[in-house]
Amino acid sequence: MTKKVRTAVLISGRGSNLAALIAACRDKDFPAEIVLVISNVETAEGLSVAAAAHISARTISHKAYATREDFDSAIDAALSEADIALICEAGFMRIHSDVFVRKWQGRMLNIHPSLLPAFKGIRVHQQVIDAGVRISGCTVHFVVPELDSGPIIAQAAVPVYPEDTPATLQARVLVEEHKLYPAALRLVAEGKVVLRDGKAVLL
Ligand code: GRF
Repeated sequence: MTKKVRTAVLISGRGSNLAALIAACRDKDFPAEIVLVISNVETAEGLSVAAAAHISARTISHKAYATREDFDSAIDAALSEADIALICEAGFMRIHSDVFVRKWQGRMLNIHPSLLPAFKGIRVHQQVIDAGVRISGCTVHFVVPELDSGPIIAQAAVPVYPEDTPATLQARVLVEEHKLYPAALRLVAEGKVVLRDGKAVLL
């Protein structure tokens, strides 16, 4: 098969989506490979996920930089050094500078645990429960400067039950996230979905 697309995953925590992406990449026919994991948090569990899979992983703490731009420059330098072509954000809890987002536009994906454009931001499952909606889910989208607002590549839905807590809903959504993110990465790595005129276009 043709050369795999060199992909980096940015994390801040648990890394269950990272694990799902790594698992998908083990398939010899998968079009992408995870070659670098960057965390902004030194204690992120996802760093052990990367280490166990023998993937190069490093911490770049936002606390070491005076500005968002400086932090993003350090990330960008690490990405360049590893010859990265695609970025997957998976629970990465920092907002990027516009300059970084523009540079990576069309080549940076994020996963969010709701059916965007509903329920952006944080404490998403609590927002969903508070709103009383009956369906939630997850979204993989291209990253644009405005938070959780980029063109949608793929979505999956789950039911919301009256007895749900944020934890039970999160568990149900995560099962779908772990299938959706590899599927979306595949589409982008194969060039079957591209960002064009502000939309994710299926070719
Ligand atoms: C996921 O729910 C993802 O949608 C959101 O952050 C969470 C990260 O979980 N952006 P994990 O670190 O991948 O387990």
